[in-house]
Amino acid sequence: MTMGGVAGSANERTIKIADSLEYLSGFGNEHQSEAVPGALPQGRNSPQRAPLGLYAEQLSGSAFTEPRAGNRRSWLYRIRPSAAHPPFTRADNGALRSAPFTETVPDPNRLRWNPLPDPAPGTDWLAGLWTLGGNGDAAQRTGMAVHLYHANASMERVFSDADGELLIVPERGGLLLRTELGLLTARPGDVALVPRGVRFRVELLDATARGYVCENYGQPFQLPDLGPIGANGLANPRDFRAPVAAYEDVEGPVEVVSKYCGNLWRAVYGHSPLDVVAWHGTHVPYVYDLRTFNVIGTISYDHPDPSIFTVLTSPSDTPGLANVDFVVFAPRWLVGEDTFRPPYFHRNVMSEYMGLIEGAYDAKAEGFVPGGGSLHNMMSAHGPDRETFDKASAAELRPQKVDDGLAFMFETRWPVTATALAANADHLQRGYDDVWQGLERHFRS
Ligand SMILES: [Fe+2]
Repeated sequence: MTMGGVAGSANERTIKIADSLEYLSGFGNEHQSEAVPGALPQGRNSPQRAPLGLYAEQLSGSAFTEPRAGNRRSWLYRIRPSAAHPPFTRADNGALRSAPFTETVPDPNRLRWNPLPDPAPGTDWLAGLWTLGGNGDAAQRTGMAVHLYHANASMERVFSDADGELLIVPERGGLLLRTELGLLTARPGDVALVPRGVRFRVELLDATARGYVCENYGQPFQLPDLGPIGANGLANPRDFRAPVAAYEDVEGPVEVVSKYCGNLWRAVYGHSPLDVVAWHGTHVPYVYDLRTFNVIGTISYDHPDPSIFTVLTSPSDTPGLANVDFVVFAPRWLVGEDTFRPPYFHRNVMSEYMGLIEGAYDAKAEGFVPGGGSLHNMMSAHGPDRETFDKASAAELRPQKVDDGLAFMFETRWPVTATALAANADHLQRGYDDVWQGLERHFRS
């Protein structure tokens, strides 16, 4: 199919397209798709003349020589090669920041924010990005950034991020992602993964869109190993959906923005770069419905470490140490006997950014709201607030369904340094420490 051309804010046609998409199934597969029969070469990647007058082009998301299990590349068959573009010039970064983060210093205090304020009229998804903080170094391809977005207009321009892959977590409002490899719909409760360098445009399915983005500079997200859990469980590979090929055949000026080593660059192409008619490969965007996550927890006692809720992990060079994990706190039963059931008090060498997609989180009675977020940096002490502690300590331990919220965490190996915008934001909650006040002494010797 062709993508058609839809610009401007949410409209019926966009919603109709978003509701009727087909997908390919399976994370990490060698997928293939063609929008026009015969567009995909058979038997070789780069024939002397590609079918239908298309150009063959490889997009590498990993070094050519990386082990097969982690190798990511796709072959794209397109109307024009990506090389056919005018020079890029620097563009305003807006509220987008990048690693290394040096505007402030890492903060040992627990920090929490309310949702982003309303955007100015005409703010598209890219302009609506606002960086909370991060770690590592984008140019060194290590670390991560936490962004939030709040938009009220569909993009007409096209964006790609050379610095990392983007895990988009909608909290309010649906998104239609028109990518080089095809179309994806992501609504609250879904997450979308756009690989490094893949161009895309975000159109809104509702009047506004709000959510979170983990920009992963490191190794691409992969499914965690399951060890003794066995062959199934947590996020099941087949629940990740990749797009089928769809292309825009548009001649005329199209603004293309690229994030490159921390800065935005722009060029005006004479055609749409979303012109891939067929493709095959492993460097592929996905959408995943968090409600399909297979939640595993105790059936005896104690609260397992939240790593049991890992959806995707970006490994580092140290086995078991994630550059960043994406973790979901999905609806689940709590049945532990003689157990303090909410998340326990802890200090963690990893740094935790938490957000809330809907409802409430079982470690906080109030103040942690959908669209907001908390940052508990390396070794900062945190856990349930006083109200939650008191309630859980006295609760009758019957089987209990926790189904009133959907929270998530970006857990990363290094402290997250806030941007100046985040450290000084009006929507930073002053007095967050108070939630742990009044935890009274109960010790009796
Ligand atoms: Fe924590």
